[in-house]
Amino acid sequence: KTLKDLGDLRGKKVLVRADFNVPLKATEITDDGRIRAALPTLQELRTQGAKVIVMAHLGRPKGKVVPELSLAPVAKRLGELLGCDVTLAEDTYGEDAQAKVAAMNDGDVVLLQNVRFNPEETSKDEAERSEYAKKIAALADVFVSDGFGVVHRAQGSDYDVAKVLPSAAGKLIEKEVKALSRATENPERPFTVVLGGSKVSDKLGVIENLLSKADRLIIGGGMVFTFLKAKGYEVGTSLLEEDQLETVQGYIKTAQERGVELVLPTDIVVNPGFPSDDTPVAPEVVPADAIPADKMGLDIGPESGKLFHDKIVDSKTVVWNGPMGVFEVKEFQAGTKAVAQGLVDATKAGAFTIVGGGDSASAVRHLGFKDEDFSHISTGGGASLEFLEGKTLPGLEVLQ
Ligand code: 3PG
Repeated sequence: KTLKDLGDLRGKKVLVRADFNVPLKATEITDDGRIRAALPTLQELRTQGAKVIVMAHLGRPKGKVVPELSLAPVAKRLGELLGCDVTLAEDTYGEDAQAKVAAMNDGDVVLLQNVRFNPEETSKDEAERSEYAKKIAALADVFVSDGFGVVHRAQGSDYDVAKVLPSAAGKLIEKEVKALSRATENPERPFTVVLGGSKVSDKLGVIENLLSKADRLIIGGGMVFTFLKAKGYEVGTSLLEEDQLETVQGYIKTAQERGVELVLPTDIVVNPGFPSDDTPVAPEVVPADAIPADKMGLDIGPESGKLFHDKIVDSKTVVWNGPMGVFEVKEFQAGTKAVAQGLVDATKAGAFTIVGGGDSASAVRHLGFKDEDFSHISTGGGASLEFLEGKTLPGLEVLQ
């Protein structure tokens, strides 16, 4: 169900679940991509003359009121982007929320305080969550679920509320599902998947599912060292998941059997260790099969950057999740830049490109790329990964 199925919303109180889990430095939002992504739904509701009550979480306060995780900076930024006042309620469903909702005019926006300040939000007890969801639902007439980043969680404000109120998916969820399905259901080929980030163990499900769909799998980031080790190379002091070696050897074999091209880096940028007050930034490029015993790999090398870029450009569908190196440090960001540029060039050449995962989305913006350089930047971290794994996502299922 989508917004249209909810009928005329003029004067109605519409409760919207958004994902405003944005990165913060003290109270400064360092990437407002998730807030921007919620605007089409919120603007549409305001245009229709609805009273818009938004709820969201920030961080993992574990059911306690943590002042640093207040949604106050989000309310401010959302107001700037919408061009209207956004009133922040001090609680999620208590007296303050009720009073602020009662005072709303058509087109007004109220943001409820961090739903995860309530222990029931993330409770494993469905009955407890359900009682809590009823209290939030009492504030509104209908529910619009638009926090794509949380649909993999069966939590009070995205799952249980949908069982209480007439509900529909918002424009962001519609857009995300359409884009990610285009890659997973019937991708135009060649279909290339680029995976990075620190851990193989975070990406097991994705690799397994996509090994039967992709034509090409490109691996970089911290997780690549487990692949290099599985091939028999030494990886120095680089990140290594010994307990995944056998699984990764299995993936290498499956890729061969299925004719999936597995692309690994041929050179690596190493450093004496992870940069810190005691460890200097002293990068050095070495062949991927000759990483010195006392060095740590922190990025793919320039030859690999070019290789990855060219393979990406030679694709019709590209899904990328996870940075290629420690992109926050400029000496180790060239690999991530090369991959991002590959997607940009592929998009220009007519390919369908998706940047998935909170880290990759932040990485491309941090590196100066624009959202419109890609076909789709997913707002989901875990949610987009689980979607790519082919899992059933409770927050989507409940809307069907
Ligand atoms: C995210 O940041 O991926 C979503 O907002 C979900 O957050 P969570 O992993 O804390 O549930």
